[in-house]
Amino acid sequence: MATNIFEEVQIGNLQLKNRISMAPMTRARNFDGIPNDENALYYAQRSGAGLIITEGTAISNTAKGVLHIPGLYTKEQVEGWKKVTKAVHEKGSLIFTQLWHVGRVSHTSNQPEGKAPVGVSDIQAANSYAWGYDENGKEGFVISSKPRALSTDEVKEVVNDFANAAKNAIEAGFDGVEIHGANGYLIEQFLNPFVNNRIDEYGGNIESRSRFLLEVVDATIAAVGHEKVGIRLTPYGGLNELPHYDEIEETYEYLAKELKKRNVVYIHLMDQKTKGSHALPEGFLERFRSWYDGVIILAGGMDREKSEDLINAGTIDIAGFGEPFISNPDLVERLQNNWELTPPDRDLHYGLGSHGYTDWKKYDEVLV
Ligand SMILES: Cc1cc2nc3c(=O)[nH]c(=O)nc-3n(C[C@H](O)[C@H](O)[C@H](O)COP(=O)(O)O)c2cc1C
Repeated sequence: MATNIFEEVQIGNLQLKNRISMAPMTRARNFDGIPNDENALYYAQRSGAGLIITEGTAISNTAKGVLHIPGLYTKEQVEGWKKVTKAVHEKGSLIFTQLWHVGRVSHTSNQPEGKAPVGVSDIQAANSYAWGYDENGKEGFVISSKPRALSTDEVKEVVNDFANAAKNAIEAGFDGVEIHGANGYLIEQFLNPFVNNRIDEYGGNIESRSRFLLEVVDATIAAVGHEKVGIRLTPYGGLNELPHYDEIEETYEYLAKELKKRNVVYIHLMDQKTKGSHALPEGFLERFRSWYDGVIILAGGMDREKSEDLINAGTIDIAGFGEPFISNPDLVERLQNNWELTPPDRDLHYGLGSHGYTDWKKYDEVLV
């Protein structure tokens, strides 16, 4: 019998009210990095989703490549997030936060004391943008600065920063954390041999390039438990200047099997085709499923039909929606009733203020 994606599902020890998740989306609406009432309202409005995954959240003060994003490394930030998790829980949704370190996709104006960003190597993403202040102090897109390679000891400190942020997340009331291993940021920079030229234990073959990712997973699991740790991956992704390499397939097979051994609560795959990069190749999802029989979330150009087809085929378990959730706070209801979706306004995706953030209308309000 076909699965009803609008009905409850158990993943690990979590009970989700449906199989729809809100994908993580940076909105840059925290002037001081501390979540506030407006952020709580934004997430509460979207709590038709069984699982909300927050915007990428900085794990430390070197982790940022975008101004006005929230963090999870100070007491004030933890207190701020409590407002968000409470508001979402009151609406019967679960909420994870996405733990983010951008690595080289950053700018000196995003870094403490204006220093160089830290990365897997000193190779610059010279055609990729951070969001910072230009030389005239004006806010906007700025070319990512030349990074400095992390020392081996510093890599281990970043591993600890992920674990600490995860502990803070649980203290703030989150149901779990999603490690951001996608979209060309620090963890994926380690995986890619064109950017990772390290000669220590974190560079070289597939196992060595995967070591940082798996150490982050292990430390985070040790901090909060495997049933509270998921991870996002973008196999074949090209965002932020990660060229394709020969061993992509083998790398993700290795990771899928290692993550299965660790019993993470889910793997969240993202197809980058709606973000102007490569689509997942034909048959990849089915191959990934053969390596990994845990919970799979898939995001990137999903609609109701595709979600139902892939879930009923057993290829994925949960459908993730990104951009449609921005302009349709009641997205789940709209999908369920086949109601029209309000198109997004990309000029309002980032930046401070409630316009384009909490003022999107529900379907029945649009009709009034
Ligand atoms: C405004 C915006 C911000 C985003 N920020 C993040 C982010 O912080 N972390 C992340 O992993 N993906 C981010 N994404 C990607 C989304 O999570 C999602 O995977 C992508 O938009 C594809 O899904 P969609 O076609 O349903 O929008 C962002 C997307 C948008 C539109």
